[in-house]
Amino acid sequence: MTAAKTIPDPDAADAPFAFTEANLAEARRILAKYPEGRDRSGVLPLLDLAQRQQGWISRGVVEAVAEITNTPPIRVWEVVTFYTMYNQHPIGRHHVQICTNLPCWLRGSDEIMRAAREVFGDAFGRTTDDGIATVSEVECLGACVNAPMVQIGDDYHEDLDYESAKALFQAIRHGRPVQAGSWADRQCSAPSGTRTTLTTDPTTPDGGKWIAADSPAVSAGGAD
Ligand code: FES
Repeated sequence: MTAAKTIPDPDAADAPFAFTEANLAEARRILAKYPEGRDRSGVLPLLDLAQRQQGWISRGVVEAVAEITNTPPIRVWEVVTFYTMYNQHPIGRHHVQICTNLPCWLRGSDEIMRAAREVFGDAFGRTTDDGIATVSEVECLGACVNAPMVQIGDDYHEDLDYESAKALFQAIRHGRPVQAGSWADRQCSAPSGTRTTLTTDPTTPDGGKWIAADSPAVSAGGAD
């Protein structure tokens, strides 16, 4: 699980920011991927790199990224304020992002929110007093097929219900390791339970087979 390395001091909002030596080398490697004179293309990945180093995007980060990409600082601010993945304020050790968009809501995100309130208290939009977690309610995170889901750091936790969400949040709160992925024991986004589509050999409109009989898929174990 990825977490912010430190809990930053909000009073340091205006402090200058500098990439570590390793991250500066990484920033240069990223910028080298773009054509000459197109350093602005590196604004997003460099902001991400800076956020991984500091935990959030301060004014100092904006100015550092603006300088290294030859971009006016206001253009960098526009990017920071457009994309919600950039934290505009210091966050806790873990950033818990709960999706409550339509598919997750239909699949029970209200129960995930209830579990979060019970474990983290009134920490929505802010950081718990012990600095362990910042809890955010977010829009679709692109894992609707495994709804409801929660993102913590870089990891997705999917197919949650009240009990599994509460176990997940308690593990985060108490520093226990957690396994990313489906909490309903399904493989990736494969159908849960039994298959409901393609249960027979599909045929073409003229009655033929979609998959040639000598294709590797068929000879290796059947067309389905
Ligand atoms: S609606 Fe929650 S991941 Fe898409």
